[in-house]
Amino acid sequence: MIVLLFIMSAVHAELASAHLHKLTTASIAFSQKLYKRVAATEPNIVYSPYSIHSALTMMLLGARGDTAAELRKTLRVTSFGRSLHPTYSELISEINSVTEVELKTADAIFVNPYFLVAPHFIQDTYFYYKALTVNIELQATGGPEKQVNDFIAGKTRNIIQDVLSPGSIDSNTAMILINTIYFNGTWEQTFNEGRTELDDFNKLDGTLRKVEMMKTDRLVNIKRDKVNKMDVAQLPYRGI
Ligand SMILES: *[C@@H]1O[C@H](CO)[C@@H](O)[C@H](O)[C@H]1NC(C)=O
Repeated sequence: MIVLLFIMSAVHAELASAHLHKLTTASIAFSQKLYKRVAATEPNIVYSPYSIHSALTMMLLGARGDTAAELRKTLRVTSFGRSLHPTYSELISEINSVTEVELKTADAIFVNPYFLVAPHFIQDTYFYYKALTVNIELQATGGPEKQVNDFIAGKTRNIIQDVLSPGSIDSNTAMILINTIYFNGTWEQTFNEGRTELDDFNKLDGTLRKVEMMKTDRLVNIKRDKVNKMDVAQLPYRGI
């Protein structure tokens, strides 16, 4: 979460267009609100704010009436009007054109073939989000989940595997929205590997474990969070 917020705000700093600035601000505000909700029951959690905000905004393309109004409000995008999806499209191009680090996002929509989808939804999600709509093969050997898991693994260099466990998809599944992010970067100032040492790591249950810790002496920006009793250090990646 922290790393992704850094990426968002770094991309944010470079943005020329006011719409893009407004969209990243909306996404960050939504994500912080969501984190407060999620953290109330599950404080030790990592998720991608961008993935959730972009997938739900993509869903707006198929929503009308009260559902659309509620989604717009929750996603903080009420003021965008028609510019919303074109702005997301621009943001996706910006994110995926970052050089020096590898940053790739992908979207896909898996649909139950018995569920009829309006053609404009398939066209618009492809046009603005480059999301491919694919029918779920309910009778596939290895289970219908394999197709979805293979897509995710393929977009994350096999780092994220088996997101859906067997039996996750059944005849009641209408649609699955997928967003992936692959990030691979180098620190602007790398750590000297020779200085990595075993040190104490305090686990949440109060026990100690020896883990390898990177060490460096330099000035970095930190944010002191007295409420949560933690400090957050800013370690920039090369190029962003
Ligand atoms: C990151 O990129 C480097 C260079 O392409 C590659 O060797 C390495 O396996 C990648 N790491 C991950 C975690 O994908």
